[in-house]
Amino acid sequence: HAAEAHRTDLMTITRHVLNEQSKHPEARGAFTILLNHIVLGCKFVCSAVSKAGLAKLIGLAGETNVQGEEQKKLDVLSNEVFVKALISSGQTSILISEEDEDATFVDPSKRGRYVVVFDPLDGSSNIDCGVSIGTIFGIYMVEHKNDLSLEDVLQPGENMVAAGYCMYGSSCTLVLSTGNGVNGFTLDPSLGEFILTHPDIKIPKKGKIYSINEGNAKNWDKATAKYVENCKFPKDGSSPKSLRYIGSMVADVHRTLLYGGIFMYPADKKSPNGKLRLLYEVFPMSYLMEQAGGQAFTGKQRALELVPNNIHERSPVFLGSHGDVEEVKKIYAAVE
Ligand code: AHG
Ligand code: MN
Ligand code: MN
Ligand code: MN
Repeated sequence: HAAEAHRTDLMTITRHVLNEQSKHPEARGAFTILLNHIVLGCKFVCSAVSKAGLAKLIGLAGETNVQGEEQKKLDVLSNEVFVKALISSGQTSILISEEDEDATFVDPSKRGRYVVVFDPLDGSSNIDCGVSIGTIFGIYMVEHKNDLSLEDVLQPGENMVAAGYCMYGSSCTLVLSTGNGVNGFTLDPSLGEFILTHPDIKIPKKGKIYSINEGNAKNWDKATAKYVENCKFPKDGSSPKSLRYIGSMVADVHRTLLYGGIFMYPADKKSPNGKLRLLYEVFPMSYLMEQAGGQAFTGKQRALELVPNNIHERSPVFLGSHGDVEEVKKIYAAVE
């Protein structure tokens, strides 16, 4: 049926967002213009990633970013493409990127009402071996656009007006929420358009998969260790969960969203705040999970309620099927 509709009634991401926008009479198309520029960035990265091996784009770029990570050429290239596309949209005022130490304050002549936080290339360690990688973004709205400060960025994730990711895998899939549920779009390279392929995604209430880097088990806190133990040796006689861990957050979260289950990057002795960055990894993925009927927990509270203190702050995260995250919350409450 979807294929039939696709042939004649092309529900592109732009049309879909315009439909959404018609629910906001005050909207003047600014968000649609912004989204189109994000989509342009994703199309570029999709094409660069698919040619990475050929164009010698793989391998280290030599510099390191604020995270102290070796920047790979695609990280740097993707970051530049997104920054330029977002500024040229004329709809942004502040940009936060994993790859830029400081916030980018857009020149007043090009300023708009949106703050965009993004991870231009997520899963960099997987670039050289051809495993799925992605882009993650979150969008806040700021009213006054003259006296901007970092305060305008350090907002809880629940203030986001939209969030999404693009996964560069066997196909290029963009998953987006503008606050009314979650929809998935797949790039049709022959049209150069993202077509609606996964309308109104809802995550299963409970899943059979747990996703965590077991290599960190030595450093886990008691609650995490106990939960993972229950996944492997269930007390209630149910069958053990399967472990699936790709090492690209976008790919692990996409599988969790479609199949159900739980994705975890907990705090551990080595990294007390976990590894994932709050603004442009934890918040957008938590926003999507809640919009799809799942939930996201930090070990202490609902992830979207956290207020960041700095733009590259990290946070532990347990996200996915509502029932699975509920189990984690119970264990944390008991060991408190
Ligand atoms: P990035 O490549 O944007 O720095 O993100 C990498 C993150 C995330 O994609 C993934 O879930 C996590 O790193 C994997 O970390 P470990 O290798 O420590 O498991
Ligand atoms: Mn990185
Ligand atoms: Mn990342
Ligand atoms: Mn990244």
